[in-house]
Amino acid sequence: MKPFSRELFGSRFGVLMALAGSAIGLGNLWRFPYLTAQNGGAAFILIYIVLLLLVSIPTMITEYLIGRRSRTSIILTPNRLGHPKMKFIGIFAIISAICIMGFYNVVGGWTIKYLTSSIMLQFGSDTADYAGQFSEYISSPYMPLIHTFIFTGLIAFISFKGVKKGIEKASKIITPTLFIATVLIAIRAITLPGAYEGLKYLLVPDFSKVSIDTIQNALGQGFFTLGLGAGTILIYGSYTKSDENITNSSISTAALDLFFAIVAGIAIIPAIFAISYANGSTPTLDAGPQLVFVTLPSVFASMPFGDIVAILFFFSLALAALTSAMSIFESITAFIIDVTEKSRDKAVYICYLICLIPATFCSLSQGVMSDVRILGLNIFDLLDMLSANVFMTLASLFLLIFAGWILKKEDIIDELSNHGKATTPMWILSTVYILIKYVAPLGVTAIFTYWLLF
Ligand code: TRP
Repeated sequence: MKPFSRELFGSRFGVLMALAGSAIGLGNLWRFPYLTAQNGGAAFILIYIVLLLLVSIPTMITEYLIGRRSRTSIILTPNRLGHPKMKFIGIFAIISAICIMGFYNVVGGWTIKYLTSSIMLQFGSDTADYAGQFSEYISSPYMPLIHTFIFTGLIAFISFKGVKKGIEKASKIITPTLFIATVLIAIRAITLPGAYEGLKYLLVPDFSKVSIDTIQNALGQGFFTLGLGAGTILIYGSYTKSDENITNSSISTAALDLFFAIVAGIAIIPAIFAISYANGSTPTLDAGPQLVFVTLPSVFASMPFGDIVAILFFFSLALAALTSAMSIFESITAFIIDVTEKSRDKAVYICYLICLIPATFCSLSQGVMSDVRILGLNIFDLLDMLSANVFMTLASLFLLIFAGWILKKEDIIDELSNHGKATTPMWILSTVYILIKYVAPLGVTAIFTYWLLF
């Protein structure tokens, strides 16, 4: 087995930008604003924060600390830490990473297409049939595939350059740029006449809209946005220096991610309201592709300076997708490097091919292969469902059990306290340990059982 040394991230800022870049992605832009608006605004955000503190952040800390302690990718972690029988956790995580890469890269490809269309000023007419254009595009066999190959190619290009010069450097540039672009869009949105209604709809708490589903959605969103259960936090953890404070950097990542998600909500929901009122129609709120590729282009077409906002928006969407997909790609690449001991270059080629196989099926499942249904879902939706509900959840649950019940408490505290050198008070570390051992696994099990039963 290779020695524990490996290329590490160079700076604290770099680590934070890489983690935040992985966290901030399509989930923040097309799911969080919608979930918040539909589930009682600030009431949803409150529940989301509670679950973040009790379940999602402790799960993130677990992946992170195991990665840093083992300094390897998820498949070899149990071996390194002396429990080779737990290898199956890595298999779950790698399957979830490959499933996510299947549909995520396809959407990444769509963002490239929409970015180029916005640059060519194709979203100028508020009477255009954006729904028709979108479904025609995604169901065509070649163009979305070519865009997907380009998107994944960009990730491979960054990955060739390694941890410090590739992932860290790209994240240090992309994450702040993304942030500035989204803030600019939010400013444009809230200065539109009529935006206030949308802002109220997004943010004023309404506890009557809260149900068990709200809780499930909030937890699911926390897991997806922090990127848990696919080995991505674990691999970034393995590249982190031993003086980085794991608890602090996990909380900072979750806070930046939430802040970005709220700004994204402010950029999106008030604009939809303002434009609908101006046109005398009722605002339509969708999540996912419908929201970003159909509703928003028509909103941009109706707003002053809409052309620029459209470019900024699709630019943000593409960048957000890129740094997120990069972390998942790295989880698979590092797994190939650690298991086969091949060079990074070769591993990147192999990973590129591995990612393109499910992505090709996902892309074709929007058109020529739309009749292929498993469990009633097309391949795209199937991989989304399986990764989010089964593989990510189970990999996270087993990692929590591994850390809380199989590894020794002293080792966990030793890693969290940077071998006793960190200044975090002991009561905080003990609380984190209790969350990892009892609260988070119970929370994940409850949600998984609810999903299975209902
Ligand atoms: N967090 C990203 C988003 O919100 C996606 C992502 C990155 C992810 N790494 C992950 C999802 C690992 C699941 C697992 O879009």
